[in-house]
Amino acid sequence: MANRVMVTGASGLLGRAIMKEFKSSDAWNVIGLAFSRSGSGLKKVDISDKNAVIDAVNEFKPQIIIHSAAERRVDVMERDPVTASKINLDGTENICEAAKSINAWVLFISTDYVFDGTSPPYKVTDQPNPLNLYGKSKAEGEKITLAVNKDNAVLRVPVLYGCIETLNESAVTCLLAKVKDTSCKAGMDGKQIRFPTHCDDVAYVIKELSNRQVKDKNIEGIYHWSNDEKMTKYDMAVTMGTVLGLSTDHIEKDMSGMGGASRPDNAQLDCSRVEQLGIVKRTKYSSAIGDVLKSFT
Ligand SMILES: NC(=O)c1ccc[n+]([C@@H]2O[C@H](COP(=O)([O-])OP(=O)(O)OC[C@H]3O[C@@H](n4cnc5c(N)ncnc54)[C@H](OP(=O)(O)O)[C@@H]3O)[C@@H](O)[C@H]2O)c1
Repeated sequence: MANRVMVTGASGLLGRAIMKEFKSSDAWNVIGLAFSRSGSGLKKVDISDKNAVIDAVNEFKPQIIIHSAAERRVDVMERDPVTASKINLDGTENICEAAKSINAWVLFISTDYVFDGTSPPYKVTDQPNPLNLYGKSKAEGEKITLAVNKDNAVLRVPVLYGCIETLNESAVTCLLAKVKDTSCKAGMDGKQIRFPTHCDDVAYVIKELSNRQVKDKNIEGIYHWSNDEKMTKYDMAVTMGTVLGLSTDHIEKDMSGMGGASRPDNAQLDCSRVEQLGIVKRTKYSSAIGDVLKSFT
């Protein structure tokens, strides 16, 4: 009989890839939760509403919940921390408590922004020290997840890109507007190191961790997954332009630092704990970014 998995944030950038990955296997019976975009077979549940979460969890009775829903826009979090905390903190507590009541396992999706970026690469045992409210809320979400049930797990990932609905869905694909506009110079940050990671790779890792969990019940605590290509936004933009056959002469390296909320300079994640399980999938940025952007060029 198929195992039951519930995915929160199933309408989001990563959630859609997770849904696709689980649906590709007969071993899994999957339900996706969403909020404002709950059409096309997804169930509408506001995760900050405790009773709604309890009802959804009791109805489907998942063995596994992949908790991907979040307010992940750093600047929105700084502007309205109260609303965002309801999603990232209360929502996480509601999911974990409801899961515990039916003995379900939770995998909480977290971020490299829990680190300050001063001493990479970060091991799963390193202490978080987030620089902005978003990072703080995700670090709190991790604590809640493991405090409600120490057998739960956390998967930290870096900046993501993948199959997008709009360019602004990803901090990587949103660079395209400036890359395409060759009429003026475009300054791109050349300082902060990132590891742009394809959502399909993360979804694969999540399904493999879930497969191990249903079999051996020994996936607990903190895990990291990330691509291994070191890139600044400048590098991402130039590669994007080159792959798309556009001129990149107007793209300039900007070393003055990014405005807005503080972000880590380099929060590279050490992924050895996942690699030791024999789980590895890394898509090369230059081989995927053209495909991701093809309907926007
Ligand atoms: N994107 C990145 O670069 C990145 C990097 C590191 C870590 N992460 C983490 O990865 C996870 C997924 O991120 P993402 O990029 O897929 O985010 P996203 O595209 O912004 O999607 C967010 C999801 O959360 C749902 N959601 C928001 N408020 C909700 C509420 N009150 N009740 C129920 N659902 C709600 C949204 O549903 P509706 O749209 O239907 O309202 C949507 O499905 C997050 O935990 C994020 O912190 C993301």
